[in-house]
Amino acid sequence: MHVVGKMRVLLVPPLLLLLLCGARSQAASRPNFVLLMADDFGIGDPGCYGNKTLRTPNIDRLAEGGVKLTQHLAAAPLCTPSRAAFMTGRYPIRSGMASRSRVGVFIFSASSGGLPASEITFAKLLKNQGYSTALIGKWHLGTNCHNKTDFCHHPLSHGFDYFYGLTVTNLRDCKPGEGSVFATGIQVLVFIPLQVLAITVLTLGMLNCLGLLHVPRLVFLCLLFLAALILCLLLCFLHYFRPLNCFLMRNRDITQQPISYENLTQRLTVDAVQFIQRSTERPFLLVLSYLHVHTALFASRDFAGRSQHGAYGDAAEEMDWSVGQVLDVLEELGLSNNTLVYFSSDQGAHVEEVTAKGEVHGGSNGIYKGGKANNWEGGIRVPGLLRWPGVIPAGLESDQPTSNMDVFPTVVKLAGAQLPADRIIDGRDLMPLLRGQTQQSDHEFLFHYCNFYLNAVRWHPRNSTAIWKAFFFTPKFTPEGANGCFPTHVCFCHGHYVTHHHPPLLYDISRDPRERSPLSPASEPRFQQILDTMQQAAARHAETLPEVPNQLSLGNLLWKPWLQLCCSSSGLSCQCDLEKLGRRAQL
Ligand SMILES: *[C@@H]1O[C@H](CO)[C@@H](O)[C@H](O)[C@H]1NC(C)=O
Ligand SMILES: *[C@@H]1O[C@H](CO)[C@@H](O)[C@H](O)[C@H]1NC(C)=O
Repeated sequence: MHVVGKMRVLLVPPLLLLLLCGARSQAASRPNFVLLMADDFGIGDPGCYGNKTLRTPNIDRLAEGGVKLTQHLAAAPLCTPSRAAFMTGRYPIRSGMASRSRVGVFIFSASSGGLPASEITFAKLLKNQGYSTALIGKWHLGTNCHNKTDFCHHPLSHGFDYFYGLTVTNLRDCKPGEGSVFATGIQVLVFIPLQVLAITVLTLGMLNCLGLLHVPRLVFLCLLFLAALILCLLLCFLHYFRPLNCFLMRNRDITQQPISYENLTQRLTVDAVQFIQRSTERPFLLVLSYLHVHTALFASRDFAGRSQHGAYGDAAEEMDWSVGQVLDVLEELGLSNNTLVYFSSDQGAHVEEVTAKGEVHGGSNGIYKGGKANNWEGGIRVPGLLRWPGVIPAGLESDQPTSNMDVFPTVVKLAGAQLPADRIIDGRDLMPLLRGQTQQSDHEFLFHYCNFYLNAVRWHPRNSTAIWKAFFFTPKFTPEGANGCFPTHVCFCHGHYVTHHHPPLLYDISRDPRERSPLSPASEPRFQQILDTMQQAAARHAETLPEVPNQLSLGNLLWKPWLQLCCSSSGLSCQCDLEKLGRRAQL
């Protein structure tokens, strides 16, 4: 009797523990999600990926407390398509978010293209599951379709309850005194025609004077008028680009036009923290999509001039601070153990981002070749960190191929929602890999697109360590021997900007991550067999791609005056600043 009694006493603590664990795993069955997305942040930048001089203690905290993916791949090396894939779990070509021209992203806020309403974002599915959903920061997936108020592509039409940020993107042209990303375009479209016109007028004038030719006055007037028109268009573009495209919105209202960079990261961070604070009653999804570290670079007083890597380092360290603020509030509210935090970048660092003065304004892709806008590893291999204490083991590292499209099925399943059955989802559930239940990721083939064009295929054969990567074409790096396409600022995906390869260039990324030595039938006996398998996979993949409306066609990219959002109703001034008012109201 006595012994049994004692045993009962001894049994109580384990029972209690079991009950507690049960309660916890139930709570954990519908976690919150905080998805942190950086812009153009390279895999060589964070400390946890080997950088010793850029200080990212908060991003590193995520790696220590969770899983570090070392072959995490953006579905595209450019913002708009990469983010479309992230939001939908599908290759951007499936939603028409893959350009056939040189321009692969939205440039104007008043473009009619964007993520189609027929696409299903993870936010939409989570909202249906009762989650509060917010997008804070950069969207870059379109705004309106037909008029100023349909907001067909806007975050609020894609499953987000709350939006605060930019519908387009941070650009040099948004910040006074930073120069223009359109310098090359202006050179070609404005200065060359002006020079041609000037030479024509001078030649005709001379011939006229010498009496060799009688040129009617009207011809001169027309030529001069044409020159004036081109100049006017240039001045209008330079003058109006900033107010018309660089504005901050809260939900469907513009709150600051043009955007001010003063304490901008602080404002976004405060908003993110407040969203978490008011969402403790229901599970929530927060996508915090940083403007950092895209140019124009900026940093508040506390960070400007503090890093060892100039304006770029300052911006990166400020972003890291913001990550810390978000992790801290989760900790304070006791939400850490019930929140899956993800950190990544939409693509690799922008290698060609060097100022006229030679200052490097792009990040580091570590040992990897290339960068943003191309499919060498440097363009698509991005940081990938996932933390969920108690569920995902801390300090685990995986070199398996994973994709930013994997977030979609992972998040949707954890929220208890069904994956859409009417469409192909290209992402794969990450949880088995993150929990350590499997050693191999579910991706056998991954397709790397450069805009609309299938650029390369990656094959990870089951039960093999090899990672084959075959390029159908590669960008022509310029100048010769450079690590990017410097004269054009980004590499382009077709025409005379690329070199086609027959047979495709084949690498084994597991042995040659720097992509230095393409294989040949002499160095790899199974060369032909491997390429055949990969080409067959590409052909099968192509069969799953029906024709869809091109969201990045010229017509959908162009500025449409009737779609231009403007916070003031008085003409074209489009200026307002409700931010200061808002801040005062919040205090
Ligand atoms: C930006 O933040 C600093 C420090 O917190 C503050 O002194 C300054 O007034 C802020 N600027 C604006 C425009 O809010
Ligand atoms: C760390 O990051 C900075 C800024 O991108 C870069 O200049 C530096 O080369 C990086 N260091 C390493 C070891 O990659």
